[in-house]
Parts: sequence; structure tokens; C-alpha cells
Amino acid sequence: METTATAPGKIILFGEHAVVYGRPAIAAPVSGLRATAVVAPGDTPGVLLRTPDLGHDRLLAAADDEDPIAAVVRAVQRAAALPALPDLCVTVRSAIPIASGLGSGAAITAALIRALAAHLGLPALQETAALSDLTYEVEKLHHGTPSGIDNTVVAYEQPVYFMRRQPRNLIETFAIGRPLTLLIADTGVRSSTKAVVGDVRRQWAAEPDTFEPIFDGCGGIAAAARTAIEQGELPPLGRLMNENHRLLQRMTVSSAELDEFVAAAQAAGALGAKLSGAGRGGNMIALVTAERETAVRAALQEAGAVRVMKTVVE
Ligand code: MEV
Repeated sequence: METTATAPGKIILFGEHAVVYGRPAIAAPVSGLRATAVVAPGDTPGVLLRTPDLGHDRLLAAADDEDPIAAVVRAVQRAAALPALPDLCVTVRSAIPIASGLGSGAAITAALIRALAAHLGLPALQETAALSDLTYEVEKLHHGTPSGIDNTVVAYEQPVYFMRRQPRNLIETFAIGRPLTLLIADTGVRSSTKAVVGDVRRQWAAEPDTFEPIFDGCGGIAAAARTAIEQGELPPLGRLMNENHRLLQRMTVSSAELDEFVAAAQAAGALGAKLSGAGRGGNMIALVTAERETAVRAALQEAGAVRVMKTVVE
């Protein structure tokens, strides 16, 4: 019998980058974009790893440390203290564009942990907090110093208010006063989260007096945004997105394309717009009303978006 599991992509609504430095941030799942993992009994010895989208099959035993799928299987084996794995065939697919701020890595990892945990009968790893923690361990291998927000939102599959903290992160779900309709516009430019986060760290270390107030500003915006979301106050929420984008520009993580998309969305009547995720490419999000949705979508396409997706946070 084969076991299938999925996990969603994500958008950061408020507070990316500043969240790495302990400020609050808000993220939401993108349920329509998912990664899927299938685990089946193997018909050849060993654990066969298949990623048909990338087009190559390999055995776990032969996969190097950089192999992200092998890293997940090994992390599950370690976490569950399994001395050996049965013969398996593991297949991973994802509809989430990679390196575009939509949490593709965390979603693939979480889907595969879920599928392996269900297939191998490991109920402890199927619990949301454990799934999130193990996804974080794998994220750390690829991303250096992730805040933990990506694995959290992907594992909880709900909008979360998140703050990186010791000994445990603050993770709060909260009421959505009115559904948020967002358009997600892809610049088509791929961007490495690790590289951008690393660059912000270098700048922060060189100029803490410039960056600390920017991070504080982002944290204040995220806190105010949570209240606006809870109360269903969409126009103020849109203004907070615009403000957050300006602070991200000051962190130097925007790009000409992202700025153009933000301006195009605003000019077409979006309530607010900002980059989402690490930046320097990837995606922009715009908050729209039903009346302006079509016009904003057309403006983003006109501005060069390689695709525009709609998601509703509710
Ligand atoms: C990436 O989705 C969000 C960043 O803040 C990095 C992180 O929180 O780990 C840029």
C-alpha cells in the first residue's frame, strides 16, 4: 500500500527578515499550491528517491549530503531512531515554484515527513509541533539561519503570528475578521533565501544602528496588522503592507521588478502591496477588493508578471 501526503506553500504577509531578529511576523498558507510525497514499498533493495519534476532517480545510500530529499529521509530515520529502513520507493512532486518566496523547500520537507511518518507508523512525527520542528531541522541544513516561520505555517496550515524566541517560539493562530483576497505575482526571477538572509545579516552587522530601527518598524507593523486582520479592517491593512514594503526596500531586499509590481498594483487600486519572502526576486502580494481584482491582475500582467495567482486567507 502506498501512502500519500501533501503540504501547502506559504506567503509572508508581514515581517520577513525582521522575524529572523526576533520581531513578530505573520504568514499564511497557500492551500492551492502544494507539494506531494508518495511513499510505497520498494520492489528493489534500498530506498529509491524519485523527483520526476527534476528528472533523476537515485538510491538513498548513494545520495550525497546536499540532496534535499535524502536529507529528509535521513532526518526522519534519525528522529525516530530507526536502525534501518525497509525497501521503499519515495516520490516527491511540487506545484510550488522553487526559490520564489513561496516556501517550496519547507512544503516538500513537510509533505515527505508526513508521508514517511504515516507509512512507517510513527505517530509522534505526525503531530503538528513535531512535524514543524523536524522540518525546521532540515531547513537549517539548506538555509543557515531560518527564523522558523516557514516550517511553522506549512505544518500548521493556518495563518500564524510568529515570533522567534527561546526556549520556544511564540506561535499564535488568530481570528480573520474578513477574508483577505490576495494576488500573488511572480517576477520569474529566482532568488536564494540563504543568500539574501546572509546579505541582510552582513549589512545588519556592519550597520546595526540603521537596521535595528528598520526591524523594529517591521515588528510594529506586524503587530498592528494582526489587529487590523482580526477586526477585518482592510484599507488600514493595505496601508501597512505598503509601509512594510518601504522598509524592505531600505533593507535592500526589493528589486526593480518587485517595485514595479507594487507600483502597478497600487495604481490599479490594490489596497496595498509588498514583496513576500526573502525578496530580490520571487513574488509580490497585493491585497485586493472584489471590485479591483481584475484591474490589478491585468496591471500585474502588463507589468511583466510571469504568472498571477489568487489566494484567499480566511
Ligand atoms: C523567508 O520565507 C522569510 C525570511 O524572513 C527568512 C526566515 O524567516 O527564515 C526571509
